[in-house]
Amino acid sequence: AAPTRYEAENAAISQGVVESNHAGYSGTGFVNGTNATGSHVEWSVNAASAGTATIAIRYANGTTSNRPMDVTVNGTVVSAARAFGGTGAWTTWATSTLTAPVNAGANTIRLTATTAAGGPNLDYLDFEVGGSPNPGTPV
Ligand code: GCU
Repeated sequence: AAPTRYEAENAAISQGVVESNHAGYSGTGFVNGTNATGSHVEWSVNAASAGTATIAIRYANGTTSNRPMDVTVNGTVVSAARAFGGTGAWTTWATSTLTAPVNAGANTIRLTATTAAGGPNLDYLDFEVGGSPNPGTPV
């Protein structure tokens, strides 16, 4: 099955705003999280079945420093301080892909900034149970 795309601008945002001033995003914009530890975006996603999900996060980081975020699924950290390294420009978008166990039906996926610089700009999350992460994808 193809992944389902969940735009960041439709997710629950804690400390952050939806913006559209950097081209190349999907949908109507992206989330610019507040430059603060703890700012986060939470997606509610639906899994067709329990299993290992592929989670692809599209982001941009126009700095040369990582913008690490914890990735939690249903409240459990599945990737701690995931790097989200510089992409070269705020208009250059990259995808960081991981896998994590999910329940059948509703699941929450939250990305939380772990440093005072905050996270990268977030465009969307592609979600599917199964799937194959691209091994060459940047983190
Ligand atoms: C710039 C950029 C924002 C970005 C911010 C940041 O202000 O325009 O899109 O979110 O830097 O450093 O996080």
